[in-house]
Parts: sequence; C-alpha cells; structure tokens
Amino acid sequence: MFAQLTDSPLLAYRTRNNGDFFHDVYADKKYSNTQTQKTDGELYFHNDRTAHPVRADFLSLLGMRSSEENLIYTGYVDGRSILENLKAESQEWLRKSLFITPFDDYSRDSNINQIDSEPHPILGNIHTFRYYDTRTTYTPEAPIEAIKALFDLKIAITKAKKSRVSINKGDLFSFANQDSLHNREIIQIKDSVSAEKRWLLKTYSFRSPEEMDKYYDYFDADLPGFVVAE
Ligand SMILES: [Fe+2]
Repeated sequence: MFAQLTDSPLLAYRTRNNGDFFHDVYADKKYSNTQTQKTDGELYFHNDRTAHPVRADFLSLLGMRSSEENLIYTGYVDGRSILENLKAESQEWLRKSLFITPFDDYSRDSNINQIDSEPHPILGNIHTFRYYDTRTTYTPEAPIEAIKALFDLKIAITKAKKSRVSINKGDLFSFANQDSLHNREIIQIKDSVSAEKRWLLKTYSFRSPEEMDKYYDYFDADLPGFVVAE
C-alpha cells in the first residue's frame, strides 16, 4: 500500500526469501551471529543487497511483533553526512570500480553462484554508497590510494551523525537504502522470549517506475521488479 501510494514499485529476487516481495525478518538459529537479515544479533553499517547488481532505492520495515521492553535499534547514517567527512581525494578513489563485496551466507545458501560481487565503486551519484562494513573490501588490483580511501571511509562513518529508530508494533520505517547506511544495534534485552519472536515485514522498492525500467533485463518478462537473472 505504501509503495503504491508513493509510486515506488516493489523489488524481489527469485533466489532470495523464496522469491517473496514481502520478507519476514525474524531470527533463525541457523543464522545466529551472522551478518544476514535472519540473524539474532547486531548488524554492521551497510546497504541491503550490497553485492547484487540490482539494489533497492528504498527499504521499508513494518513492525509486526516487537517488545518495547527490548532496546533493539535500527541505526541510520545519511550519505550526505558521510560525504562531509570524506576527503576530496578519497571521494575520487571511492568512485572507481576497485572494490568488491562478498555475498552473505544467506544469499550463498540460496544460490551457490553468489560468491563475490563484480568490482564496484563504493561512491556513486552525489552521496550514494555501496558498502557493507567489514565485508566490502578492495580488489587485488587496487592501488594503495584506493586502500587509503577505504580507510578514510571508515573514519568518515565513525564521525558521521547517526540516528536511531526503534521499530515497535505498527511502526513503519521507510528509508533510502543506497543514499545511506543502516545497522542493527542491540542495547538491552529484558525479555529474551519476545526478542526471539521479533518479527518485521520488509519490502524493497525502486524510487520510480522509470528507475525500475533500467533493470528490465534482469526481470521476469511477465513480472517487472522480479529479478530472475543473476
Ligand atoms: Fe539491512
């Protein structure tokens, strides 16, 4: 409904979450302590689907079941705030395809071909970032300047202004996936049973139908927005 009202068409992947357009985000013991959406733990700053060539412009999270007693936060850093803290020279190097991001364990389990992304820039447009902290790294060919730029990015993220949102039952948090980074922080769990049952509904969307059309070749011919090509 929200995607329809904002004219931002939904995105899904055949090899992800059984091809669902609506993802159930909950803890799965198999992915305990991993950097995947099914983890019960914290997530480092990232964009979703960093390693994949087709990435959502917006990510929406709806609180289905969540205990306010547990302090679990979605952290958010605006790309503009990261950019402000990045040296001009670093920005230039981050705009080159000298970086790679390995796919996460959950993606690899559903598609054995998903090992590493193609080499990609970390910075695009004005303040679009493609980055998963601790996972995105430099390619073997990258010169020392690119490695220094990656180091500078880590400093910029540390310095950037951050905000935190607690998604309680009935709350909808919708944010720019690529023009920002987000994380998950667990400050305090008072009710571990509720924490295990925490459930968010997640959707991916494009900023506009025109933006979706740019990825036409990746989609099922009868279902725009449904990625079948890898
Ligand atoms: Fe995420």
